[in-house]
Amino acid sequence: MTEKDYSGATTSKIGKNAKSSASQNKESLLINKKQDKKEITSEQSSAIDVESYRKAGEIAKKAREFAKTIIKKDMLLAEIAEKVESEILKLGGELAFPINLSIDDIAAHYTPTLRDEKKAEGLLKVDMGVHIRGCIADLAFSLDLTPEKKYEKLIQASEEALKKALELVKNQKEQTKFNEIGRVIETEIKKRNLSPIVNLSGHSLEEFNIHAGLTLPNIDNGNTKTIGKGAFAIEPFATVSSGSGSVYDGSGSNIYSMTGAGFVRDSFAREVLEFILENKKTLPFSQRELEKKFGSRAIIALANLKRAGAVNEFPQLIEKSHSPVSQAEASFVISEGKVEIITE
Ligand code: CO
Repeated sequence: MTEKDYSGATTSKIGKNAKSSASQNKESLLINKKQDKKEITSEQSSAIDVESYRKAGEIAKKAREFAKTIIKKDMLLAEIAEKVESEILKLGGELAFPINLSIDDIAAHYTPTLRDEKKAEGLLKVDMGVHIRGCIADLAFSLDLTPEKKYEKLIQASEEALKKALELVKNQKEQTKFNEIGRVIETEIKKRNLSPIVNLSGHSLEEFNIHAGLTLPNIDNGNTKTIGKGAFAIEPFATVSSGSGSVYDGSGSNIYSMTGAGFVRDSFAREVLEFILENKKTLPFSQRELEKKFGSRAIIALANLKRAGAVNEFPQLIEKSHSPVSQAEASFVISEGKVEIITE
């Protein structure tokens, strides 16, 4: 799952404020979480649980192969989502976020509802996340479902950009500079006469935290700091040269996350909120998951929670000139001088 960069050239005050208040809420939630679990010492929580990241990566890889074998043109997105997510659970993983199935100019952040009538077609991005004890493997790939295979070059561009960025990280390890990751991605895409999406980026990963605060850019953003130890996802997005090269916030994605403990009067909505807090913490979840657990009244509860400010719905991220967008993504862990690409 990608991160929209609110700090770049397209900064709007609303975006910036929205982000800072969301991360403040997240911080207060995390503080509560830590107080609940006093047995976790700061030393333990700062160590990277490489074994769990590795397991999450293994399951994500298997789920990717499964997805590639089942997805066909005109298949219902809801059927794809349900099958791939079930496979992840069957393999012993937890969902780090709902599978994103985004078509053409929707760059990212769309998951179908249970009765969604959308079908697989065009340029389909499949972005999935698996976690083991909160350790997340985040990966994505693109499929060209057009009969004439007109998006192959666009798909190759994001894949090659990802490959080059991973090579850089394998060489430079902790010393990799943020802007150099972006420069490699930008160069690889532009040399094909295509454009990177400048306001989408990769991100750091922490336990139960999909967007842990660090931005791994898709262009040289001038950040010469080194990435250091940790878990990360790199995800280049490419569009055609006539595209705008950036995305805007579209309508709702059916993907939600808890943002704060807003007061909800309705007792059923509170029950749903408790379920989210216990099972998802601040990880993204879908309307589908809640509907399967609680029935169709979960939809009304979700709307109540949204209105109360307890949950937030992610917007779809749409290319500004409605040009097609491809995506590739991999996750890796850097610890003790070693780089492990967990999704390869
Ligand atoms: Co991601």
